[in-house]
Amino acid sequence: CTGGTVSTEHLYKILVIGDLGVGKTSIIKRYVHHNFSPNYRATIGVDFALKVLNLDQETVRLQLWDIAGQERFGNMTRVYYREAMGAFIVFDVTRPASFEAVTKWKEDLDSKVTLANGNHVATVLLANKCDQGRDVLTNNGIKMEQFCQENGFVGWFETSAKENINIDEAANCLVKHIITSENDMLQSEVHDTITPQLETDKGGTCTSCFRSQ
Ligand code: GTP
Ligand code: MG
Repeated sequence: CTGGTVSTEHLYKILVIGDLGVGKTSIIKRYVHHNFSPNYRATIGVDFALKVLNLDQETVRLQLWDIAGQERFGNMTRVYYREAMGAFIVFDVTRPASFEAVTKWKEDLDSKVTLANGNHVATVLLANKCDQGRDVLTNNGIKMEQFCQENGFVGWFETSAKENINIDEAANCLVKHIITSENDMLQSEVHDTITPQLETDKGGTCTSCFRSQ
């Protein structure tokens, strides 16, 4: 017997998807292994990484599924998406085509996986490589919020795997939304009590923040 401490453990499967070369593997590498490589090696099929978070009394294990962006692996996504609880969809701020593909990735995701209650899985949009400029975004933070609301993203962040910008913040936002959706499923009623703390000056936002204001 270890005494009276009650701790709970969660394991969440999280998908990381988006066009090839947008930085999915690099974001995971930064988040889990705290490093970055400028060399590009395309992911073949899928890779995995595990991140363990200790939050108050809870241990949260994130099983990150790093899915290849290359078109030729696209027919495997149904298998990969199964039982996911959350997702990041990533685009490259220097490549407009990778942003145009975001809605395609979101539709693919929503058509292939839902939670036990039929809801879509919590999804956060990542505008990566923000250290290289913000071509796709140029001064349209408000439009991005509108884009997220219209397309069912719970939030969005400008990130840089290279400079380690906003990656922990984006993951915290996703985890909070996953925990909320899990509680919703357990209690079969809607709670909207979370108030993630974000640094708004770094271009990040989480819809639960503006919903709760
Ligand atoms: P696939 O596996 O083919 O789908 O690509 P991916 O999305 O996993 O991209 P990957 O992480 O391999 O990164 C592609 C290239 O972009 C690499 O050369 C990375 O070093 C570079 N890169 C990734 N993230 C960043 C970033 O935040 N800033 C900069 N400057 N380069 C980045
Ligand atoms: Mg990759």
